[in-house]
Amino acid sequence: MRRGGSLLSLFLASCTGVQNVLGGQGAEDTNFIRLFTVFMVVCTVMYLIVVAALVIAVWRKRTAALSVDDRKHHETSTAARRALVAWTALITVGLVGLTIASFFTDRSNAANGSRPQLSLTVTANQWWWDVEYNSPDASRTLRTANEIHLPVGVPAQVTLKSNDVIHSFWIPNLAGKQDLIPGRVTDAQLLPNKMGLFRGQCAEFCGVQHAQMALDVTVESKTDFDRWYAAQLEPARSPTNPLQLAGYRYVTTRECGSCHAIAGTPAGGQVAPDLTHFASRRSIAAGALPMNRGNLYGWVADPQSQKPGNHMPTVGLASNDLHAIVAYLEALK
Ligand code: CUA
Repeated sequence: MRRGGSLLSLFLASCTGVQNVLGGQGAEDTNFIRLFTVFMVVCTVMYLIVVAALVIAVWRKRTAALSVDDRKHHETSTAARRALVAWTALITVGLVGLTIASFFTDRSNAANGSRPQLSLTVTANQWWWDVEYNSPDASRTLRTANEIHLPVGVPAQVTLKSNDVIHSFWIPNLAGKQDLIPGRVTDAQLLPNKMGLFRGQCAEFCGVQHAQMALDVTVESKTDFDRWYAAQLEPARSPTNPLQLAGYRYVTTRECGSCHAIAGTPAGGQVAPDLTHFASRRSIAAGALPMNRGNLYGWVADPQSQKPGNHMPTVGLASNDLHAIVAYLEALK
């Protein structure tokens, strides 16, 4: 009973939340919900007919066993033949109907993605997302990680790649899944039609931290998106006090900068999330921890205890270095 209750609350939470297949905040997701409803209705009707036929058959068999009457037997077999013809016709109509519904859903999804106004490249890594916004103008391209911002009502084309194993790109509120495969380029189309904060999740088992490979998705007005984009194009903020300066020196000259890039500083590593505007994000470590000072301390001090197996080593920082690094990272708005 208790387990039933918690399962129910889990189900209800998933229906209202930021990660919800039945959310309908994207054009593709709305199409899928419609198609799902059609399938559900057709299959439910078919199921009820089968169950009803079964009950009738069992009932008939019982009464027939009581009387052995030739005329009655003949009537019964004619009725059975008619029922069989009707049933076959119904199945044919049902299957053709489902095929047509699937066809139009596919067509509609393809049409939504045919004129993208925004181009992104998302590269999956164990266990984080590298995100690039592409532009023909090189000064307008930008790089971030573990988050996507999208303007509402604007179709976006997402090019998908993987650096290691197969992952799957999935923002349930907006669209269906698409695999990211090493050595191959795939793509997905997003057309969000409602504003909100959503959660994307890797949907293909990719190693021990597969579950903690999430993506913060913000769908906002065009104005807010443009403001965010302009802020992201800026180089990293400079340190403004001695503590931040000490952090800046550590991050850009010691271990951190060989993996992480911070635009406008000597830190130019390419194998870990870009940190240029790190503190403007909602979470740390691909959705593993909410962005706040306590979690930042925990993460920088010992990433292996926070997300075991991830590729960020526990460096063994002295406490003054830890304070300095956290102060500097917090300034990277
Ligand atoms: Cu990446 Cu699961």
